[in-house]
Amino acid sequence: MEGTFERPLEFELADKLEASRDLTDDEFAAVLLCDYPGFDEYLAGKARAVREKYYGKSVYLRGLVEISNICRNNCYYCGIRRDNANAERYRLSEEQILSCCDAGYDLGFRTFVLQGGEDPYYTDELIVSIVSAIKERHPDCAVTLSLGEFEKESYQKFFDAGADRYLLRHETADKDHYEMLHPAEMSFDHRMQCLRDLKDIGYQVGCGMMVGSPYQTTEHLVKDLRFLQEFKPEMVGIGPFIPHHDTCFADREAGTVDMTIRLLSVIRLLLPDVLLPATTALGTIDPRGREKGILAGANVVMPNLSPSDVRGKYLLYDNKICTGDEAAECIRCMAMRISSVGYETVVSRGDHAAFSIK
Ligand code: SAM
Ligand code: FES
Repeated sequence: MEGTFERPLEFELADKLEASRDLTDDEFAAVLLCDYPGFDEYLAGKARAVREKYYGKSVYLRGLVEISNICRNNCYYCGIRRDNANAERYRLSEEQILSCCDAGYDLGFRTFVLQGGEDPYYTDELIVSIVSAIKERHPDCAVTLSLGEFEKESYQKFFDAGADRYLLRHETADKDHYEMLHPAEMSFDHRMQCLRDLKDIGYQVGCGMMVGSPYQTTEHLVKDLRFLQEFKPEMVGIGPFIPHHDTCFADREAGTVDMTIRLLSVIRLLLPDVLLPATTALGTIDPRGREKGILAGANVVMPNLSPSDVRGKYLLYDNKICTGDEAAECIRCMAMRISSVGYETVVSRGDHAAFSIK
């Protein structure tokens, strides 16, 4: 008919995803591959509406403390991998970690994320001591750990000491793909077991993957979405893969801001009340990447609280942003960026809706 034109099928699929929180594998692939003008805005508009229904205009701040860049693992993509002899190594003492959290508390943070390589210096006992001390000093705060793979008994000890949340990206839901990104000594099955153990224990669990990692296909991403749908994490951390010059993948292409943003919107529609960070990696490949992430459905940001003298050493990938700023500066900058797109930063614990302590 003159004057009307049919909308491409992918727009209908976005509507279907919003209404039913599900698509077939082929439909997910079509949504990820669609290059029709205006599709991203359409999808992001839906994702924004859903996130506002659950979380309003709030963007939760989590204070990130990068406790160590010493790692026993050798992931092919990671700048702090064991075999990178050029990495300048550091680790923070218990005292240093506690003073970062104290400073963060004074700046208004109510969630601390302790992240690091798999550094054997941090025994179960030391982690228990650190978590207990943070909870004792700041009982109104949530503690999130992101320290890699342990056995269930260890995760249980950290939980009993007061840890509330654990972030462990699954990296890819496809075993063959996992084995292309990691040496044979690392196990896909063990990583998945860790995620199940964490959930069993009662943690709020975050998983996630890099976007555009080497050898990643659309089918892999569809498998990731299916995994997220089944596992139902409380948080999903995704960010673009960015090459690091001293790794096996130095010459690989980085993931794109467009695909990362599209996936943020799809994940928001798939898991409406999930906590979804706009990551530092997204801000690294695009100066307005985190703002774009917020506008595509993300609702968490993690300013860096690490001491200034170590910030430039936690280099997972090249050109990482926020390595020179003071913590207070990072927060000011983040608050301005968030308000520039019509949202507001909040410092409450910002639990996943199912755990909300209202
Ligand atoms: N050791 C802990 C673990 O394995 O979960 C936490 C630290 S690990 C460095 C944190 C995350 O950084 C990884 O899960 C991975 O997805 C991401 N990462 C590592 N190298 C990256 C790269 N080159 N580009 C983008 N993200 C990267
Ligand atoms: Fe440390 Fe991958 S290199 S966990």
